[in-house]
Parts: sequence; structure tokens; C-alpha cells
Amino acid sequence: MSNVTNGTTPFAPFFKFINDLNRNYTTIPYEEKMEMSVLQRVKLYNWTFEFFFIGVVVFIFVVYKIGTSVNVSRADKLFDSIHAFLRDELKFARVGFTAQAGENRLYMDQHMHTWLTSFSTGRSCIEGVNVHLHLFPRNNPLSMFLENVMGWYFPILALDTDAEFCEIEIKPNGVYVGSENANVNSNSNEILNNFKFISSIVNKRVMNQSRHDNYYLALTHTTEGEDLSNEYVHMSEMNQLNGFITSYCKKDVLNNLLNQTVDLLEFISFTDLPADKPENASVWNANKKIRCVIRTRVPTTDKELELLNQLIALVVEVYDNFTRVLVQKNESSFVTNDMLKKTNNMRATELAKITKIAREAALEREKEEKKEVEKEKRRNLKKTGEQEKIDQKMKEKRERRQRNKQKVRM
Ligand SMILES: *[C@@H]1O[C@H](CO)[C@@H](O)[C@H](O)[C@H]1NC(C)=O
Ligand SMILES: *[C@@H]1O[C@H](CO)[C@@H](O)[C@H](O)[C@H]1NC(C)=O
Ligand SMILES: *[C@@H]1O[C@H](CO)[C@@H](O)[C@H](O)[C@H]1NC(C)=O
Ligand SMILES: *[C@@H]1O[C@H](CO)[C@@H](O)[C@H](O)[C@H]1NC(C)=O
Ligand SMILES: *[C@@H]1O[C@H](CO)[C@@H](O)[C@H](O)[C@H]1NC(C)=O
Repeated sequence: MSNVTNGTTPFAPFFKFINDLNRNYTTIPYEEKMEMSVLQRVKLYNWTFEFFFIGVVVFIFVVYKIGTSVNVSRADKLFDSIHAFLRDELKFARVGFTAQAGENRLYMDQHMHTWLTSFSTGRSCIEGVNVHLHLFPRNNPLSMFLENVMGWYFPILALDTDAEFCEIEIKPNGVYVGSENANVNSNSNEILNNFKFISSIVNKRVMNQSRHDNYYLALTHTTEGEDLSNEYVHMSEMNQLNGFITSYCKKDVLNNLLNQTVDLLEFISFTDLPADKPENASVWNANKKIRCVIRTRVPTTDKELELLNQLIALVVEVYDNFTRVLVQKNESSFVTNDMLKKTNNMRATELAKITKIAREAALEREKEEKKEVEKEKRRNLKKTGEQEKIDQKMKEKRERRQRNKQKVRM
């Protein structure tokens, strides 16, 4: 109490203020208080401090409730819209995760309503559709604030978590089912070998950031296309691949859609490489995944949700047409063997670079470790050497004493 009142702590004025709130009440003598009724005492007591605390608690609770309900309602709207579209229009057999008992939610809700995901499957040409939604932790303003501050000072911590986005991954399976009783091709792996390239359409607004954030985009060349509206660029491994998307969907439908999604869409990328640069060959092999990534802002209006569905439909149509052409083999594929040879070479070169760097890093580590071991050994040697010296001195001392004693006796 003493250092509260003598003002040595930075909180002293605060505590003094709190104590002063009830100075009048505390100065009333005990006997007088005992004579008052409870109501009289309640009236005399200054409740400002207590009300303030209750206010803070209520405020946190209200923010939590509002933040949670905003996030859940955005997620519900998005997943309901996409799931209905995948089921009814694109004819997926299994849409979303199995609903938990007592809920009708078909998506997974993690990290306090900030990471939301669903998976759909069961369709010709498509292995599956992953939908990821990342939202701000609106129900926890303190963590939102801290995340922002950390992001300014340690940009490496900010990465993805500082932005809200929706990312949809559509994976092909190389199996074309023309009709219900049609034969299914069994050479799906061979078909999928034709999907190992990168071809993307990227919104100019985010092209530098996307290239920075996604390894597979970092490997591409950026070109403006006469066939694209002004707000977008092609990002492909080579210029010949720029036409991939438009050769498997209707060009005017695509451009019309791109025009309407300028504020929504960040990019559409057909790729097989990971978003994070692999550290070595095993990570490279483990993370190769043929897919198309559609990345957008979080759609909130019905119009935006509808446009997002149209983007998904467009990608599915491209995979349908491309797979059909590859399976039926009676039309020439847009992606020629020559292009595939080039993309294959590019991957081999890139992997060789990564392996070289990984090997150099490993060698460096080994050298450091060896140095450390040597140092430790020398330190130990020195220690044992010193110990020997000490032992020797002690021995000499003992012997001298012995001799002195003998001298005395003589
Ligand atoms: C992207 O970077 C290039 C140079 O690296 C720059 O000229 C261009 O203005 C940047 N674009 C945007 C949208 O930031
Ligand atoms: C792609 O397939 C759709 C039907 O799903 C068809 O209408 C369209 O003409 C095809 N486009 C190309 C370029 O083959
Ligand atoms: C898209 O917008 C550009 C100008 O903003 C226009 O020139 C182009 O015709 C539009 N394309 C479509 C398909 O509407
Ligand atoms: C590759 O890198 C990962 C991640 O750093 C590591 O766990 C793994 O042991 C490495 N593999 C090899 C073969 O060096
Ligand atoms: C390719 O073959 C399929 C049946 O195998 C047929 O339906 C289709 O019309 C053919 N396409 C062309 C361009 O010949």
C-alpha cells in the first residue's frame, strides 16, 4: 500500500483515483454505517469503478458475439452458395464434409472462426474441390491488433495471416466419363502428365505480391495479352502457354467474367508446383500437386458469390474440355509435346538448383558441426591438461610436506 500512495509506481495516480472515489464512504465511522440500512449504504457508496469493470466485460463479450456472428455468417453464405452450385449445377456427388449431429454445417471451422475449409468430390475429370476461407479474428480485437503490429515490425510473421481471402483448389483426375454407361479410361496417370505446366491470369493489382507469395508464380513470365482486358496479365512459364485457358472455354464468356470480377479476383492459376519454395528434392516431390488455384477477396454480396461460382464453372469447363481432348485423341491438344518437353526441362533445372543449394547448406552445417566438435575436444583437452597440472602441484605439495615433516623429526 505504501508505494501505491507515495507515487513511486506508474499506476499510483490510478490507484489514488480509485481510492478517492470512495473517500467519502470510507471516512464515515463504523458505528454510523452500522446504523444505516443496506439501501442507504448502497446509495452512499460510489460504484463508478465496479460499473466500469462490468462495462469492460460486457464490451468484450459483445465484441466477441458480434465478431463471431460476422465471421460465421460470411462463411455460411459462401459455403452454402458454393456447395449448392457444385451439387446442382456441376453435379458433384459428394459436397462438403459430413454434417455433425445437430448442425447443418458442411465445412470445418478452425482457429476461432478464422480458418474455414470444405472438400467436394465425385465428378468426371475432377478429383476434388478444396475451398479455403481465411477471415480476420473479428471476435478477438486484441489479437487482431497485435497481429497487425507484429506484421509491421516482423513482416515475415505477417505472411498470409494479415489478409482475408478465399482460395479454391480444383484438382483434375485425368478420367473422362462421357456418359453414364461410357467406358472409363484407365490411363489417367498418363493423361495427367499433360497437366504439368503453369498458365495463369493475374489481376495487375496484385501481380507483384502474388509472385512474391507463390513459388509457382515466381517461376513465370508476365505478359500483357491483346486477348485480355487491361486489368489483367498472363503469367505463364512460356508465352505459348498463355492461350491455354481461352482455348478450352469461350473467350467472350471468360472476358466478360474477368471484367465483372476486377475487384474480386486475384488470380486463376493452372499449376503443378507448390506455393512455398521447396527446400530439397524430397519436399519438392511431396508437394507437387496438379491443380488450378482460384484466389479472390472474400465475396460478401450475392452478386460476388454468383461470380465466384462462375469462375469455378469456368475452370471445371477447361478441365472437362482439356481432359476430353486428351482421352479421345481425335483433336490436337493445345499443350503440345514440345511445350511439355520445355516445362519438364524447366522443372529439372529448378530442382537441380534447389538440390545444389540444399547440398551446400548441408555441407556448411556439417562443417560447422565438425568445428564445434573440434572446439569441444580442445576445450576438454585443456581442462584435463589443467587438471593434470593441478594434480601434479598437489602431489609436489604433499611430497614437500612429507619431506619437511621428516626433516623436523630428524
Ligand atoms: C510491379 O513491379 C514492377 C517492377 O518490379 C513495377 O514496375 C510495377 O509498377 C509494379 N506493379 C504494381 C501493381 O505494383
Ligand atoms: C467446352 O465444353 C463446353 C461444354 O461443357 C462446350 O460448350 C464448349 O464449346 C467447349 N469449348 C471448347 C473450346 O471446346
Ligand atoms: C471488358 O472491359 C473493357 C474495358 O473496360 C472493354 O473494352 C471490353 O470490351 C470488355 N469486355 C467484355 C467481354 O465485356
Ligand atoms: C528436406 O527438408 C525438410 C524440411 O527442412 C527436412 O525435414 C528433411 O529432412 C530434408 N530432407 C532431406 C533428404 O534433406
Ligand atoms: C471425337 O470422338 C468422339 C467419340 O469418340 C466423338 O463424339 C467426337 O465427335 C469426336 N470429335 C471430333 C472433333 O472428331
